[in-house]
Amino acid sequence: MKLQEMLNIKYPLIQGGMAHIATGKFAAAVSNSGGLGVIGSGGFTAKELRDEIETCLKLTDKPFGINILLLHREIEEISDIVCEYGIKILTTGAGNPGKYIDKWKAHNIKIFPVISSKALAIRMEKLGVDGVIAEGQEAGGHIGELGTIVLVNEVANSLSIPVIAAGGIASGKQLLAVEALGAVGAQIGTCLLPAIECPIHDDYKEKIINAKSSQVTVIGRINGLPVRLLKNEMTRKYIECEKNGAELQELEQMTLGALRRAVKDGDMINGSIMCGQVVGEVNLRRKLVDILDGIYSEYLNAKEKLCAKQN
Ligand SMILES: Cc1cc2nc3c(=O)[nH]c(=O)nc-3n(C[C@H](O)[C@H](O)[C@H](O)COP(=O)(O)O)c2cc1C
Repeated sequence: MKLQEMLNIKYPLIQGGMAHIATGKFAAAVSNSGGLGVIGSGGFTAKELRDEIETCLKLTDKPFGINILLLHREIEEISDIVCEYGIKILTTGAGNPGKYIDKWKAHNIKIFPVISSKALAIRMEKLGVDGVIAEGQEAGGHIGELGTIVLVNEVANSLSIPVIAAGGIASGKQLLAVEALGAVGAQIGTCLLPAIECPIHDDYKEKIINAKSSQVTVIGRINGLPVRLLKNEMTRKYIECEKNGAELQELEQMTLGALRRAVKDGDMINGSIMCGQVVGEVNLRRKLVDILDGIYSEYLNAKEKLCAKQN
């Protein structure tokens, strides 16, 4: 089944549940533009998440989802809130949602865990989830080890449930490439950051628009929590400390609240300017509808051209 039919959306595009960015207002704007908007629980308390859901419900009558951060301090309450509000679609990250699946299924919720390995994808399928989001290490934010082209292929070859690709997708040709690997659609993050409706600080948007792919780096490999982001003073200091064998605590202190500093305060020096490798091709401030429609139209054109070449 097509992702559009499964989720009742226009384009096969899911917005990543980006902490501090994916507010109720932003998720509603994505859903109103034809994608699946997703509220990121990561940056909110349980009480704030309720407010974000209510905002989203007021602003759209289209389907939207919640990204459940399984490491959230208030995860038990959050796992109930989504049932209480009749949320129909969940994506999950940072852990194993196994404990909550029966409860969510009893509320007719579709569940799409974000995975970064074939082994985890197989475990998720056995738990009865509706699909998986296979996120390659090209992505912005916290990442796994495998690249999208390897991961999506492996996972799609091993599972019989739908696979959605994430990591490095910002164009129609990239969407077509992951379709060839077996994906039914894509989860996108980086290409939405410069959107007019995206609630990040203007300086963050400017950085994204002007950045080259070569300015992207990864920190945190040593402590097992790698994050992809733009190079700045914070990443330079972090990498220097990593090389000098700094204690975990010292490293954690440098990144604590750093995404929030970039998103809300526009701190481009000590903030964490998370984005994926595809940032070099994300150069325009546009409306969400133009970004989503642009990807999908290019995908249809590229597919037609490719088929014509092969015939
Ligand atoms: C700024 C930023 C913050 C992110 N925060 C989260 C998060 O809180 N939870 C999550 O599951 N994924 C998060 N992600 C990953 C996205 O949901 C999405 O999977 C990813 O951006 C897709 O790859 P792309 O960046 O190449 O488009 C984040 C990505 C970015 C760029």
